[in-house]
Amino acid sequence: MSKVDVLLGLQWGDEGKGKIVDVLTPKYDIIARFQGGPNAGHTLEFDGIKHVLHTIPSGIFRKDTLNIVGNGVVIDPVIFQKEIENLAQFNLPIKETLLISNKAHLILPTHRLLDAASEQAKGKSKIGSTLKGIGPTYMDKTGRNGLRVGDIFTSTFKEKYNALVEKHKGMLKHYEGFSYDIQELEPAFFEGIDLLKSLTTIDSEHFINQAMKEGKTILAEGAQGTLLDIDFGSYPFVTSSNTITAGTCTGLGVAPTKIGDVVGIFKAYCTRVGSGPFPTELHDEVGDEIRNAGGEFGATTGRPRRCGWIDLPALKYAIMINGASELSMMKSDVLDGFDEIKVCTHYIIDGKKVDYLPFDITDIEFKPVYESIKGWKTDTTQLTSFADAPQELKDYVSYLEKHLEVPIETVSVGPDRSQTLKNK
Ligand code: GDP
Ligand code: IMO
Ligand code: MG
Repeated sequence: MSKVDVLLGLQWGDEGKGKIVDVLTPKYDIIARFQGGPNAGHTLEFDGIKHVLHTIPSGIFRKDTLNIVGNGVVIDPVIFQKEIENLAQFNLPIKETLLISNKAHLILPTHRLLDAASEQAKGKSKIGSTLKGIGPTYMDKTGRNGLRVGDIFTSTFKEKYNALVEKHKGMLKHYEGFSYDIQELEPAFFEGIDLLKSLTTIDSEHFINQAMKEGKTILAEGAQGTLLDIDFGSYPFVTSSNTITAGTCTGLGVAPTKIGDVVGIFKAYCTRVGSGPFPTELHDEVGDEIRNAGGEFGATTGRPRRCGWIDLPALKYAIMINGASELSMMKSDVLDGFDEIKVCTHYIIDGKKVDYLPFDITDIEFKPVYESIKGWKTDTTQLTSFADAPQELKDYVSYLEKHLEVPIETVSVGPDRSQTLKNK
């Protein structure tokens, strides 16, 4: 009997999950997404080509790997179709290697409209949503109104769809001055539904548990990051799913006793896209330097990402919530040119030193307390072994391991598959 390993982000998303899942895929028979939807943008780079996936798991490029879109995921048939079309050039056996849960929920065009209307109405306090309809779709799921992939095969699907759209129209009436044209959006939606019907849909909870019985190796691929988790993130500036290890259980139908290794991944610094608190955010030229060196622009929306130094209290919190058993440090090459690297060890809140994230971090004045680390000032992107890394980079990794109390097993020094160093 095997267990399900988990790989997820410990910060505010975009840590490099797609890259590491792609690197780890040869070790696994199955890669499974368990939550989120097309708000995610997971980038993979190999053979000089860059790919961005939104809903499809990052194991899709390896022909021997099965890729499951689990019940906890929300699927927009329109975006899904585009993703599949983008993959056509690679001649992948999608019908065999991509399996979709019957219980995954569908994002309707009106969910996207509701997301946009809600954000518009919030004005300055908007979440900074990716406007992919994520919040409204999960609301319909928990509100017990949602449509699921399995529904598309029933004769009453159109009726159910129309009933939900009517409900949404009623809700949209409450947003003054929000205009829309549903008819314009529907053809693409139903084209996407037809495509979904032609793919392989399964009862993924049975499939995965059977695969475990057969000793198959399985990796669950997280989307977003721990600080965007609906329960434990910087609420209300979060996404609408459980992005943490526990989300694997509900998003795939895997019992807690069947969770294996938990790989937590983080950037050597920190970024956030969208609104909400970010204690170590830099509003100066250092922040701009990180953004430019790291190409920190959203893979899904193209928005510039907010940048800052690494935040140890937030990382320790994320490690605790997820039970991370090993870590991967990403994008350390982005700091190659820096004389000095800062690490936030504590915050000062109301004149007091605090080393954890308080209940409501939205309205508090944070003063991050930093320790300064000497930069390595060396191009690390060509390294092939961590043993050859500059001493200052090794010291940075040891410093973080000492504080985080979990081994950093992988250090990533560039976006390509090959730019990945094993530390242990
Ligand atoms: P994800 O959402 O966690 O999969 O991350 P994204 O793909 O949204 O963002 C990570 C970005 O950093 C992508 O453009 C990756 O190609 C890139 N990337 C990943 N690892 C590294 C690395 O070690 N160094 C550099 N410079 N870029 C990286
Ligand atoms: P990956 O998987 C970074 C952010 C949005 C916004 C908030 C809510 O690529 O790491 P939503 O569309 O979910 O209602 O937006 O969450 N967000 C992400 N930020 N990476 C992501 O995914 C994100 N998915 C959502 O910017 O602040
Ligand atoms: Mg991303």
